[in-house]
Amino acid sequence: MKFIEFGSENRRVSDVVLGLMRIPQLETPQKVSELLHTALESGINMLDIADCYSKGRAEELLGETFALEPQLRDKFFLQSKCGIVKDPFYFFDFSKEHIIKAAEDSLRRLKTDHLDCLLLHRPDALMEPEEICEAFSLLKEQGKVLDFGVSNFNPAQMKLLQRGIDVKLACNQVQMSVCHTVMIDSGFNVNMDNDASVMHDGGILEHCSLQGTVVQAWSVMQHGFFKGVFIGDPHYLRLNSVLDRIAAEQGVTSTAVAIAWVLRVPGRMQAVIGTTRPERVKNSARASDVRLSRQQWYEIYLAAGNELP
Ligand SMILES: NC(=O)c1ccc[n+]([C@@H]2O[C@H](COP(=O)([O-])OP(=O)(O)OC[C@H]3O[C@@H](n4cnc5c(N)ncnc54)[C@H](OP(=O)(O)O)[C@@H]3O)[C@@H](O)[C@H]2O)c1
Repeated sequence: MKFIEFGSENRRVSDVVLGLMRIPQLETPQKVSELLHTALESGINMLDIADCYSKGRAEELLGETFALEPQLRDKFFLQSKCGIVKDPFYFFDFSKEHIIKAAEDSLRRLKTDHLDCLLLHRPDALMEPEEICEAFSLLKEQGKVLDFGVSNFNPAQMKLLQRGIDVKLACNQVQMSVCHTVMIDSGFNVNMDNDASVMHDGGILEHCSLQGTVVQAWSVMQHGFFKGVFIGDPHYLRLNSVLDRIAAEQGVTSTAVAIAWVLRVPGRMQAVIGTTRPERVKNSARASDVRLSRQQWYEIYLAAGNELP
């Protein structure tokens, strides 16, 4: 497992992160505990969750797991997110009051006294950096949150927020997989008169590299917006055949190769995996030790149906 330095205290965190959005499917803290132990045995020491996952049930279940095994909490760097409201309807809220209350509610559900990192989940058009600064400062001062980051932000939004706060944003968590390459595609088509030249993200990867900000890729096994897993999907025969071949050459699973593809992108990359099966956690963690050659990386990109100019 490879580790990167993260946050204001340069904590060492694994470049494969265990995402817990789907743990309510596991139902019991005993099953979540098994998943967490497998993660630790595989070298993973960072967890990602959010207040809104299953309306708080994911955090609650993780809290029940920590209550069952109190020594587990401190073995992980624990990251949560806030800013998505689900009641009375779905919208985004980065007000000072909401951020503080959301963080405190997360701590209560998670049965812990601090979050190692708190992310703003999806950009709020009404975001006022000054009041976010007040919320972050208070949470940090009280020791409730050690570091802060964002998710699904473009570089302009990151710069706007960064200018108004006195902590350095630790990361931006964004969608990326072999089958969701939006942040890469336009870079191949600069100044071309075609659809692929349209930049949809504002240059997130380049901005984060310049700032030394960690990029956390979410849904590394999915195509589309939660449209399903591409591994074994007959619509992605060519991709699966290339992944299978490289996996056999490297002695890992095709899942690990697909994750290694994301981690091979320059910068400070992490992959947030979302499986609920211990065996898949083990196999996915091996991605960290696979370094794809340039040829393998491009072969996978093309096999996923992408084109180069
Ligand atoms: N910031 C954001 O806006 C945002 C959005 C979405 C997610 N996230 C974070 O990212 C994490 C990962 O997201 P995700 O769950 O969508 O990621 P994912 O790892 O792409 O998907 C996990 C799903 O794919 C299945 N799966 C994984 N490997 C498989 C394989 N080899 N063959 C067949 N099925 C496979 C899993 O089933 P099994 O459980 O049965 O293995 C699970 O249903 C979340 O937990 C969350 O922490 C963040």
